[in-house]
Amino acid sequence: MTAIADIHAREVLDSRGNPTVEVDVRCQNGALGRAIVPSGASTGEAEAHELRDGDPDRYNGLGVLQAVANVNEIIRAAVVGLDAADQQAIDARLLQLDDSPQKTKLGANALLGVSLAAAHAGAAARSVPLYRHLNRLAGDAFGENVPCRMPLPMTNMISGGLHAGGKLDFQDFLISPVGAPSYAVALEWIVRVYRRLGELLREAGCEADLVGDEGGYGPDLESNSLAAELLTRAIERAGLQSGEQVTVALDVAASHFFDGEAYRQSATGDAKLTSSDMIEQLVGMVDRFPIASIEDGLAEEDWDGWQQLTARLGDRIRLVGDDLFATNAARVQRGIDLRAANAVLIKVNQIGTLSETLETMRVARSAGFSLVVSARSGETEDTTIADLAVATAADQIKIGSIVRSERLAKYNRLLRIEEELGVDVKRWC
Ligand code: PGA
Ligand code: ZN
Repeated sequence: MTAIADIHAREVLDSRGNPTVEVDVRCQNGALGRAIVPSGASTGEAEAHELRDGDPDRYNGLGVLQAVANVNEIIRAAVVGLDAADQQAIDARLLQLDDSPQKTKLGANALLGVSLAAAHAGAAARSVPLYRHLNRLAGDAFGENVPCRMPLPMTNMISGGLHAGGKLDFQDFLISPVGAPSYAVALEWIVRVYRRLGELLREAGCEADLVGDEGGYGPDLESNSLAAELLTRAIERAGLQSGEQVTVALDVAASHFFDGEAYRQSATGDAKLTSSDMIEQLVGMVDRFPIASIEDGLAEEDWDGWQQLTARLGDRIRLVGDDLFATNAARVQRGIDLRAANAVLIKVNQIGTLSETLETMRVARSAGFSLVVSARSGETEDTTIADLAVATAADQIKIGSIVRSERLAKYNRLLRIEEELGVDVKRWC
């Protein structure tokens, strides 16, 4: 056993220049674990609570000094002395301290910072890379050992919605280099397509130098279809076969243009679209473009619509629930029971502890749902999710685009992990 000797939190800044929580967990043998909590912009209603100070005189009210104090004054006293390698005991203690449904007492940002930093400390105490330590925790959580495996990237190319200033209603237009023989080659293909897309946008008279929150181009395109078309052309111009070597993915983030009754897209003249209209629109896009995955194609409480969407497209493509599931095991179980979606986006700060994240993954896996480990639009140099994706043999990882260092920190971490694991060509799915 390596006991936790000290815990210290501080306020640092994320990729949008907003405050977030960083936590250091120090063990008696000197091992140090550190983690920084990410933050979303297009957040789901069911997500765990991100505690912000609300003081308008500091960072527009977005300070996290209260969450930091909750770590240093309340959580520290309760967690010091626990075994850094016993993640379940640490997370159970955190959940005792804040047993509110959405972690409103202490803040999910306070809890998650400690939970993830403890995992780093546990790995350091065992002198193993983080993904090895997480792989052991995943084996315990899943009830079976899984092999460490490189995830297939799902990479943002064009940003719309709440992540960019343009007209596009859909939030992300992404690619997955399914035909790449290794992660390193996959990354080169992604960069190649990104450059060709920049050329195509400039040729079309669009802005291609300013990027959105996740590093994707933020052009003022007229329609979602045009974005998908330009992306498909960029794949071909990069000398790659669209649909075979590189597929397209969408994150519609539909909750953010659902007004409670109808889907309102600026591209369709603000017409009131029903769930069925939305489904027809998405099916039309899947018929026209090499789309392999659609995330949040419908709003987070539109369970009936999700059932219909899954009946229509579930055997052709991945239907990923992000806001729909909010990395919450009970919501994923509901999706399984209703046959709504067939894949889950995993964002650690949507639920607030590592153990709960692994439990959500267990539930999803048990029903054959695919796993997509994801960053947030507000990120930092923290690379924990790269190790988490490898350790849980997640199918895909969604980090954002391949510019901006808070994204590259994770892409580069995966290059190092692939070097350690060795290239295993069999696996993208
Ligand atoms: P968010 O966006 O981090 O702003 O929620 C990411 C996503 O919707 O997948
Ligand atoms: Zn999303």
